[in-house]
Amino acid sequence: MSQSTPQPLSQTPVANTDVSLLEGLASTRAIRRYLNEPIPEAVLRDILFAATRAPSGSNRQPFRFVVLSQGQRAAQAKALIADSAQQFWAEKRQNDQYDKGSGADPDSPKSRMARTMQHYVDEFAKVPCLVLPCLVRYREPTPMEGASIYPAVQNLLLAARGLGYGGVITGFHGPVEAELKALLDIPEDIFITCTLTLGKPQGRHGPVRRRPLQELVFGDTWGEAPAWAEDPPGTRYTKAGPPPTARS
Ligand SMILES: Cc1cc2nc3c(=O)[nH]c(=O)nc-3n(C[C@H](O)[C@H](O)[C@H](O)COP(=O)(O)O)c2cc1C
Repeated sequence: MSQSTPQPLSQTPVANTDVSLLEGLASTRAIRRYLNEPIPEAVLRDILFAATRAPSGSNRQPFRFVVLSQGQRAAQAKALIADSAQQFWAEKRQNDQYDKGSGADPDSPKSRMARTMQHYVDEFAKVPCLVLPCLVRYREPTPMEGASIYPAVQNLLLAARGLGYGGVITGFHGPVEAELKALLDIPEDIFITCTLTLGKPQGRHGPVRRRPLQELVFGDTWGEAPAWAEDPPGTRYTKAGPPPTARS
C-alpha cells in the first residue's frame, strides 16, 4: 500500500468545524490547563489564518504574531514569561487573600481559581504554544490602537476553540518585555500587546459566565436596558465586575 504524501498547506483548505459561530462565541472559555501535545502545523495555520482575517483601521493590518512552539528560543521565551507569571501570581494570591475567607474552603470558586492559577503558572514553561501578538506602531499611541489587534486575538481564540483547542490572554510578558525582545529579535518600536498560551484543553469549553445582558446593554438612557435585552435560556452568570468605585 502506498503511503500518501500530505498535501502542501498552500493546497489545503482550512478545516471545517462542528461548532457554529454563535455557539463558539458564547462558549470560548479561558483555558489554562493543556494536554502535553504539540499543536500540528496545519492547525496552527488555520488558527493564524483566522486571526489575520480580523479587521483593522484602514485595513493596515498592523498585527504580527510571534508563534513559539518547539525549539530553544521558544523554550527560553516560555521560561522567561513563566518566571514573571509565577512572581505576579504569588503577589496577587497574597494581596487578594485567595487563601482567606471563602478561599479556605477547597470547594469554593475562589479556591478552585487559585488552584487553576497556581497550576497554570507552575506549568507555564511547558505550554504547547506561546503566541505574542505584536502591534506595528506607525503613529503615536492612541487609546484606540488596540482595536486594530485585539479583534485578531479574539479571532485566534475562537478559531482555536472551533478546532478543539483553547487558550488564554495574559499580561505576564510585561515585566520581561525587554528580555523577550532581545531574545526574539523583536524591534524596539514594536508593542507586544499581550501573551497568549494555546493547547488542547485538559478540561472542556462551555458556556461562559457574564453579567446579565440588562446590566451591560443600554438604550438611549445610560443605565437603562432596552426591553429586548433579555438573556436566552440557560445563560450562566458571574458576580465579577468593575470595582465598586468605578462608574457602572
Ligand atoms: C485584557 C485581558 C487580560 C487578561 N489577563 C490575564 C492574566 O494576566 N492571567 C490570566 O490567567 N488570565 C488573564 N485573562 C483572562 C481572563 O481572566 C478571562 O478571560 C476572564 O476571567 C473570563 O474568563 P472566561 O472567558 O473563561 O469566562 C485576561 C483577559 C483579558 C481580556
